[in-house]
Amino acid sequence: ARLVVLVSGAGSNLQALLDACADPAYGATVVAVGADRPGVEGLARGARAGADTFVARVGDFPDRAAWDVALTEQVAKYQPDLVVSAGFLKLVGPAFLAEFGGRYLNTHNALLPAFPGIHGPRDALAYGVKLAGATLFLVDEGVDTGAIIAQVAVPVLDDDTEESLSERIKQAERPQLVEYVGRMVREGWTVTGRKVTVP
Ligand code: GRF
Repeated sequence: ARLVVLVSGAGSNLQALLDACADPAYGATVVAVGADRPGVEGLARGARAGADTFVARVGDFPDRAAWDVALTEQVAKYQPDLVVSAGFLKLVGPAFLAEFGGRYLNTHNALLPAFPGIHGPRDALAYGVKLAGATLFLVDEGVDTGAIIAQVAVPVLDDDTEESLSERIKQAERPQLVEYVGRMVREGWTVTGRKVTVP
């Protein structure tokens, strides 16, 4: 199976996928890594692993809709079976969802539907929950609202900082991403509405 991974930053989740894909038995290859900004470590990780890389910056287009169309065309060139957002900090638009809806996954660092948005661990700490975690889900029009594929929980400790909690979440998030992307492509999972069908 062909994967395109979208990143905005460090790309440690991407790296976990790249490492898994090095084993042919995993059944997938990261054919390209895209970012919404140049110079991020995620792009370098993709290049080191032999994937194509590309950048689509919102500011390089007349408006958000034009960016969305350009990103869609760029990703479509690689004919991916699945597109994975791994720390990609942009919401895609209607053109992207028309093309990739149903096969665009995101990993989020909170137990949805709690704490959507870009500060999952910070918001979880502020609320005082005792369990945090990561959610793998299918992206829809909303912000972190799509059908949930998998979730993993980790404890929140009394002396946690945003950084220590984020790191504990990522330790659980990366293997979850690897396991479920692999199972989806090897086993041919389908998602209709909110229902995930495992053949
Ligand atoms: C992940 O925890 C993801 O859930 C969040 O940002 C982090 C990205 O980390 N949205 P990395 O770039 O994969 O290291």
